[in-house]
Amino acid sequence: MAVRPLVQTNDPVLRQRAQRVTSFGVALQSLITDMVDTMQAQKGVGLAAPQIGVSQQVLVIQFSENEKDAERGELYILCNPKIVRRRGEEPETEGCLSLPGFAGEVPRATMVTVKGQDAEGKPVHIKAHGFLARIFQHEIDHLYGKLYIDRVESAEKIWRVQPAGEGDEGEVESL
Ligand code: NI
Repeated sequence: MAVRPLVQTNDPVLRQRAQRVTSFGVALQSLITDMVDTMQAQKGVGLAAPQIGVSQQVLVIQFSENEKDAERGELYILCNPKIVRRRGEEPETEGCLSLPGFAGEVPRATMVTVKGQDAEGKPVHIKAHGFLARIFQHEIDHLYGKLYIDRVESAEKIWRVQPAGEGDEGEVESL
C-alpha cells in the first residue's frame, strides 16, 4: 500500500495510448491498491494509471451521488475498459488531478455502458448515469492520451480554481 506521486501536467505519459493489461498477477494487484490509495489521498473521485506514470489500461473510481453522505461511494476497478454504448449529452464542470488549479465545462454523454475486466481478469459490464458516467468517460480518455481540455468547446470554458482544500463548499470534483 502506497500513495504514489502524480506525474506533472506536461508528462508525455498523459498523452500516450496506454497498454492493454494482459497479466492479472501480483504486480497488477499492487498497482491497483496504490491507485486507490493515491486517489483517496488526493481526494479525487477517479484515477487512471497514466496519472501516476504507468502506461497501462487501468482505472479506479470511487464516487458517491449523495454529497452530504460522509461515506465514500462504491469502488470501481476496471482494466481494459471500452465504452460500448453512449446516450445523451450534457455540459458539466469537472477538474482533473493532472491539471491542478483549473476546471472546465465539458460536454459528455449522460449515460454510458462500459465493458472491461476486473482485477482478476473477469469480464465486467457497467451501466453508469450522470456524474458517474462522466467520470468513466474522463478516466477512459486518460487511457487514450486525452485530457478534458481537448473536449471543451472553447478556451473560455476553462478557468482557474482555488487549489482543492478540505471541506470546501462547491468544490470541483477532480478525476
Ligand atoms: Ni483526470
